[in-house]
Amino acid sequence: MTKRITLRRPDDWHLHVRDGAVLEAILPFTAQNFERAIIMPNLTPPIVRHQDASSYKARIKSVATAVGQPNFDPLMTLYLTETSDPQNIREGFEGGIITAAKLYPAGATTNSDAGVQDIEKIYPVLETLQELGMPLLVHGEVVDSAIDIFDREAVFIERTLIKLVERFPDLPIVFEHITSAEGVDFVASASKKVAATITPHHLVINRNAMLVGGMRPHYYCLPVAKRESHRAALVNAAVSGSPKFFLGTDSAPHTIDTKESACGCAGIFNVPVALSVLAHIFEAAGALDKLEAFCSVNGAVFYGLKLNKGSLTLVKSDTPVRFNDRVRTTNGEIRVFDPMFDLYWSLEE
Ligand code: NCD
Ligand code: ZN
Repeated sequence: MTKRITLRRPDDWHLHVRDGAVLEAILPFTAQNFERAIIMPNLTPPIVRHQDASSYKARIKSVATAVGQPNFDPLMTLYLTETSDPQNIREGFEGGIITAAKLYPAGATTNSDAGVQDIEKIYPVLETLQELGMPLLVHGEVVDSAIDIFDREAVFIERTLIKLVERFPDLPIVFEHITSAEGVDFVASASKKVAATITPHHLVINRNAMLVGGMRPHYYCLPVAKRESHRAALVNAAVSGSPKFFLGTDSAPHTIDTKESACGCAGIFNVPVALSVLAHIFEAAGALDKLEAFCSVNGAVFYGLKLNKGSLTLVKSDTPVRFNDRVRTTNGEIRVFDPMFDLYWSLEE
């Protein structure tokens, strides 16, 4: 008998859709699977003012409409800099243009150079976010050459996050794409104002995927995958049903030539297989009944948004389902995340 699971339509609480030709090529995969997505603002130049967010949103909506998904709802974010204007953020939030603000420590990841070096410089902005109840989305890694890359998330908690949460106790904070047991523990024991997104790939790979038997750039992303015990902690958190953990794919497309390079870009493009991979992981953990909370409920509740009305059905085939391993764009091809095991779940036609 075919196994099926019907979920309330999912949302993606952390997504990079880029712009131009890449946006056109990849957005259909998101719009087909997700009702809403939190759109990351790390374009070049970054989306800093609500006016930039508004025109970026219009470009995304026009692509969604052109591919027959006019109801897809991009939730826009602003990229915080040390000169961000609290008044502009307030206008954007109160005008319904933006949903959240993203904190990139300067130099932590792709297009983060304009980010924040000294967090105290953005305290006035954080006061405004707290007053508005507007979520702060945090890329939680320290930028310090003395700190090993595999420790940067744990050290960020100690050096920055603990203080931030104490100083702004009513500020909703999403610790984005957590990759460590320390991240899980911090969020689980923090107040209700603190939640975390978890990516499909960090539920699947540990750092061996990147480094054993050859250097595999398509498993390189930031924060970098950690050792196996951390992956196991992330799976436990995701399948726990705790409202503090929800899906953010962090799907981050880069063309193959920029990944397979002497200095390859960080980012994994996973949206075409994201729900299939998640169903696999949740089923293996005996927790398919928690998949809907993770993909379709917890995030919306944390953001104070309505739950989606529609639904989506995944079916399990007896034989492996073949997904395309790449997407073509006029800028070059983009590799789709390969979990290195067969996938059986797919969207019902
Ligand atoms: C993201 C990107 O390429 O924009 N890369 C990544 O490895 N996740 C940036 C980010 O979210 O850190
Ligand atoms: Zn990201």
